[in-house]
Amino acid sequence: MEVKTSLLDNMIGVGDMVLLEPLSEDSFLGNLKKRFDHSEIYTYIGSVVISMNPYRSLPIYTPEKVEEYRNRNFYELSPHIYALADEAYRSLRDQDKDQCILITGESGAGKTEASKLVMSYVAAVCGKGHEVNKVKEQLLQSNPVLEAFGNAKTVRNDNSSRFGKYMDIEFDFKGDPLGGVISNYLLEKSRVVKQPRGERNFHVFYQLLSGASDDTLRKLKLDRDFSKYNYLSLDSAAVSGLDDAANFRTVRNAMQIVGFMEDEVQSVLELVAAVLKLGNIEFKPESRCNGTDESRVKDKNDLKEMCELLGIEQSVLERAFSYRTVEAKMEKVSTTLNVAQAYYARDALAKNLYSRLFSWLVTRINESIQAQTKARHKVMGVLDIYGFEIFEDNSFEQFIINYCNEKLQQIFIELTLREEQEEYVREGIEWTNIEYFNNAIICDLIENNQNGILAMLDEECLRPGTVTDETFLDKLNTICADHQHFESRLNKNSKFLNDHSLPHNCFRIQHYAGKVLYRVEGFVDKNNDLLYRDLSQAMYKANHSLIKQLFPEGNPAKVNLKRPLTAGFQFRASVGTLMRNLQTKNPNYIRCIKPNDKKASHIFTDSLVRHQVRYLGLMENVRVRRAGYAFRQPYEPCLERYKMLCKRTWPHWKGPAREGVEVLMADLQIPTEEISYGRSKIFIRNPRTLFFLEEKRKQCLQDLATLIQKIYRGWKCRTHFLLMKKSQIVVAAWYRRYAQQKKYRNIKSATTMVQSYTRGWQARKLLRELKHQKRCEEAVTTIAAFWHGTQVRREYRKFFRANAGKKIYDFTIQRIIQKYFLGLKSSMPSMSPIDRKWPARPYGFLDGVHTELRKIFHHWRCKKYRDQFTEEKKAVYEEKLEASEIFKDKKALYPNSVSQPFKGDYLEISKNPKYQKLNSAVDEKVLLADVVNKINRANGKGTPRIFLLTKKNFVLADQKTGQVKASIPLPDVTSVSVSTQKDGFFALKLKEGSASAVKGDFLLSSEHLIEIITKLHRIGATAADREKLKVDISDEFLVQFKQDKVCVKFIQSSPKNGNSVSCKRKNNRLLEVSVPTSP
Ligand SMILES: Nc1ncnc2c1ncn2[C@@H]1O[C@H](COP(=O)(O)OP(=O)(O)OP(=O)(O)O)[C@@H](O)[C@H]1O
Ligand SMILES: [Mg+2]
Repeated sequence: MEVKTSLLDNMIGVGDMVLLEPLSEDSFLGNLKKRFDHSEIYTYIGSVVISMNPYRSLPIYTPEKVEEYRNRNFYELSPHIYALADEAYRSLRDQDKDQCILITGESGAGKTEASKLVMSYVAAVCGKGHEVNKVKEQLLQSNPVLEAFGNAKTVRNDNSSRFGKYMDIEFDFKGDPLGGVISNYLLEKSRVVKQPRGERNFHVFYQLLSGASDDTLRKLKLDRDFSKYNYLSLDSAAVSGLDDAANFRTVRNAMQIVGFMEDEVQSVLELVAAVLKLGNIEFKPESRCNGTDESRVKDKNDLKEMCELLGIEQSVLERAFSYRTVEAKMEKVSTTLNVAQAYYARDALAKNLYSRLFSWLVTRINESIQAQTKARHKVMGVLDIYGFEIFEDNSFEQFIINYCNEKLQQIFIELTLREEQEEYVREGIEWTNIEYFNNAIICDLIENNQNGILAMLDEECLRPGTVTDETFLDKLNTICADHQHFESRLNKNSKFLNDHSLPHNCFRIQHYAGKVLYRVEGFVDKNNDLLYRDLSQAMYKANHSLIKQLFPEGNPAKVNLKRPLTAGFQFRASVGTLMRNLQTKNPNYIRCIKPNDKKASHIFTDSLVRHQVRYLGLMENVRVRRAGYAFRQPYEPCLERYKMLCKRTWPHWKGPAREGVEVLMADLQIPTEEISYGRSKIFIRNPRTLFFLEEKRKQCLQDLATLIQKIYRGWKCRTHFLLMKKSQIVVAAWYRRYAQQKKYRNIKSATTMVQSYTRGWQARKLLRELKHQKRCEEAVTTIAAFWHGTQVRREYRKFFRANAGKKIYDFTIQRIIQKYFLGLKSSMPSMSPIDRKWPARPYGFLDGVHTELRKIFHHWRCKKYRDQFTEEKKAVYEEKLEASEIFKDKKALYPNSVSQPFKGDYLEISKNPKYQKLNSAVDEKVLLADVVNKINRANGKGTPRIFLLTKKNFVLADQKTGQVKASIPLPDVTSVSVSTQKDGFFALKLKEGSASAVKGDFLLSSEHLIEIITKLHRIGATAADREKLKVDISDEFLVQFKQDKVCVKFIQSSPKNGNSVSCKRKNNRLLEVSVPTSP
């Protein structure tokens, strides 16, 4: 929302002097000072802007400020020159009203700066585009050019404009600039030849000498040294803060932008140089025969150079400085010039040259900046003209200037009042007559065609005969004597006779802005502004296009015998034109005030400002403005500003703004004579009423602020609370969401975990299978590849040398093995299993094979050997094997028995008839028949007996008779006891309680002990119905003899006791068998 502000906001003092209460000169100054001290340099008087020169740069001209003031109402923001410029521009653009901005004030008050600010503001806010920007740029750049030629340093202002300037800026219907026209007024040309102390000539001279290149200076025949030129003041040639060299470049650049051609610039510089040269021409007197003095040029060098520069014939100019030709009625009279006249002529030429150059520049600039279209356009005029001047010594120039200011004041009063009046009519307010001082009477004193001062001056100048300033004053004294604003010592009016402040050679005019004393000296001369015709003709003859243009009256073909127009006349005419021009436009005023004489910031010299306030007529201005109504404001902003003062209009008024304001005013009980209601505005007669409203508003604003504060705080707390509540819900929601999410994530991750395990397991299973499958496939492939490889290698191996080593190796090994096998074959040992021979192994690496082969061979040989056995022989060997199992390493007798074949039937019982009977007594087949010794238990002696063994029993029979002594069934034999020695003793132990055991066990001895016991054991082993026969091998065992048990003990005896075994009964219980140890 756009914030509505007002001039009345944050005011320092009062922003509009109309509101000053009480209104007096002191309060006026006090307000100005207060604002000035706070850097508020602008103050309004209604729509007039008072501008105080700050003498320092303030940050109030930034592009942001331009934006701030753009399209805002005049009173909306604090006073500013931009507000005025904006107002003027907008009413030009939107209401199609031509505008003029009148800037007045004394020298150094800031007029030129103000005019530039207005122009730059308008340039910033108006349309943009290539063409428009070019126009803008040209308009703005005309300033530096004109300032260089028309401004100079004075004691009052380092950049004082020495001419009046009025510039019309032309706009199209859209408000885009089209071009402009500049008018100049009365250049102070006397400055060209002479400058007061502490002042300088026009800037351009110094700029040219400081800033031009050596080459340019050489071309212009100039020297950089200021002191070489008479026309340049030396004491203040250098001005602090003024860079002449840089400014020269700026001016050259500006001339280029404005559209000056290079040769034009050159011509202009030549003319400037010529003026400088002219100043250096000096004269000396030369007596003539008729006794008069004639002037002669002293040093012709400068004259020569000047003539070269301007293309003038030197002799022509030289003559023009010595003679003066007066033409009258076809008659030419030539008179000589004395030195003083020659100097006068020189200076006149210099002044004319320069002032005409200046006018030409203005014309030339106008040519460039003039609008290109003939279409109708709107105009904004900016008038930067010298202000009222009151010096100690006031001359013709001040008179002219002050006349101009009188005219401006008049137009100001007229227009302001007219506007005021128009507004009242427009608004339908009753018009009350306003009393004010009308300065028309002073204007009349000066410009009246019959008896005005200027008219009389012209008259005096044109009058034949001796004309001096004094005669002019006399004339004034007679004619203006009765005028109430004219004062002179010699006035017929005796009241000034004793006024010593009024010298005799002066007259005083009571201007609207104060009394000014003018010295008449130089009035006639200056008004005549005489340039001898010889000089203008000499100039016309110049071979220089610009000079020719500047002195058209020098053209002999157009000799005009009429006197040229006087300066006063010309000025009056141009002021008249200006005034007529201004009257057609809507005026906007900027009144510039200079705060001090020191060009210093922050200094406010009361007396100086008071003086300016007086002569600018500012108090009058306020009074005129307040004569009717001090304050006026459209209804809408008024209602907007004060609506809080009434309950009915606060906070909103529904209805027309005017009614709202009426209700408001009635509610506030404002007296009806204090206010008037116009069509669109309310008019407040007295500032007091406005201040009353403002005061009330201020109080109300405080209350409102408290209310707003209260509501705001409540709102803030409530909002905060709601926000907290909302936040809490949000936080809770988020937390719940978070918790649920977490839970969900946990579940999800658990699920995922389980899932992943399952999947992993499945995948691994699958992977295993696949791997297996792959491995199989790979294996197949590998095998195939290997096989193929092998195949290929096998096929190709022979082709590879690399395989040769291995091949040779394999071959060698093969050969060795082959040889080994072949050698083995030829050196095989015999097939006898007992043959222990075996060929030696040829190589260590065959050790294992060799041993293994030997074993294999041996096994094979044994098998072969066994295979050739018959059944009987097999049985024999089986017996032998059994004998070995029973006795090997247990009985010393055994080894002897090994080589003895088991014959079995030693007695050949079936064949021998001797034993026929015995044979028949045995019904079983006899397995063994031998003779054994039966040991007598009594003495240990042996009795031979035949021992028969069948499958079922054994029989002991008498050797001689063959009579069976005992037949014992084999099942009754439980065990056999034998010694470990070489003896043939053995005891057959019978089953206790059996029939056979009645006689006791048998103790026998046989040579074939091993065979007998082996067979007995075999029978026992083969018979399924019997227990195995136990064989005890021990050197002491018990034998049951009938009732007694006798111990049979075997001892070893030495061989010398006989080679045979002897058995002796030692006692009832012991039988000792001594067995000789084998040798
Ligand atoms: N608004 C401003 N801000 C800053 N400085 C300013 C302002 N106005 C004027 N000045 C200063 O004051 C000086 C004089 O101002 P300016 O040349 O505008 O005076 P003037 O009224 O045109 O005088 P003159 O009648 O001699 O031409 C300027 O050179 C500048 O230094
Ligand atoms: Mg100026």
